Amino acid sequence: MFNDSKKLTVILVGLPGSGKTCIAKKLSRYLNWKGCFTKIFCPDLYLQKLKVLESKTSCMDGQEEKDWNTLSMAECLKDLICWLKNSLEAKVAILDSENLLRDQRALLKKKLETETGSSILFIESVCNINQILVDGENTFACERRVQQYQLRYESLDELLDPNYSFLKLFDVNKSIVTRNVEGHISALIVYFLINARFHSRTLYFSRHGESEYNLQGILGGDSDLSLRGVEYASKLHEYFTGVKIENLQVWTSPLKRARQTAQLFEEKAKIWKCLEEIKAGICEGMTYQQISELYPEEFRSREKDKYNYRYPRGESYYDVVVRLEPIMLELERANNVLIIGHQAVLRCILAYFLGKSTEELPFMEVPLHSVLKISAMADDYHMQTISLNISAVSTQLPFNANL
Ligand code: F6P
Repeated sequence: MFNDSKKLTVILVGLPGSGKTCIAKKLSRYLNWKGCFTKIFCPDLYLQKLKVLESKTSCMDGQEEKDWNTLSMAECLKDLICWLKNSLEAKVAILDSENLLRDQRALLKKKLETETGSSILFIESVCNINQILVDGENTFACERRVQQYQLRYESLDELLDPNYSFLKLFDVNKSIVTRNVEGHISALIVYFLINARFHSRTLYFSRHGESEYNLQGILGGDSDLSLRGVEYASKLHEYFTGVKIENLQVWTSPLKRARQTAQLFEEKAKIWKCLEEIKAGICEGMTYQQISELYPEEFRSREKDKYNYRYPRGESYYDVVVRLEPIMLELERANNVLIIGHQAVLRCILAYFLGKSTEELPFMEVPLHSVLKISAMADDYHMQTISLNISAVSTQLPFNANL
């Protein structure tokens, strides 16, 4: 999908504490999830490394005061350029630093354009001083630093920077201004940032209860819940009644096993077609054993590259990721949602929050009869697996199963 897109360098602009790192992480997670390989480069991390190295290798006497900021930026740019130029899969590099001065930005733009051949997109985060995201202990020092920087800060400006491609986010994205944004990836970034939210929230996920087909190891189809699956549906409802979540919304796949699992929730469950399980095409209704005997070539191809493998007349994991896009953007804004879905679909959704690679994604463990709770704080996501203690079969196909 991104093979023909020109590489891109995103240069962040903004005061300390204006949410740049959060924006960088969120953006990188989203682009990587879509298969657009993205890496963040942050001079501050080089600064720490350089200082440790210096303290180990030099004696303190007679040393000249070093310009650490210039040194760390130079090291960081060296790596960024090398990655973007030499890595075949590299698509987007994000430079996470302040870049507050117009001259400094002009130099960066010229250097990165010439040395990487990439397009440049500036993303500026403009925050009201009272909303600066300072961390507790350092509040005072950080506020002083911000005030000093503010005196010299030159914001991106459509009259003074007429040829720049840029995007300005005000108060973490209450409003957005774009200028000269061109190209597929940049358009995708704008679309995502318009929808992205940075608030703390909790999301819940569960597979449907064990189904009749799960008991027989059969893929796909539209079977009913097994007896244990029915038991899980009521335990799941009991669990959410017990934890009393305000305004809980329930989103479910239209397949019978998922709707039967959602049945007891008073709130009318919202049905999303895009939450249907991966389509196994000609292999629907078969067990892994049957597929390996009837279509050994197909079975082997899937084993070699499970993420990209597309079942004949069916889907690949990549196809599922693409069809999930609308629900992911809704989830960005949502809080207290329980999604009742399926193994492959939930792997795709959870991989987004947990930043899993396309190699890891198709093998993630999403056990039956467990609630997976994702808690988000700014851009840190944590997952907790809560087993509701009703036994069920395992549907996890071991890697290189050798059936
Ligand atoms: O076995 C249950 C199931 O949801 C199937 O319907 C689906 O084909 C499969 O899991 C997906 O898992 P995997 O990609 O590991 O085969």
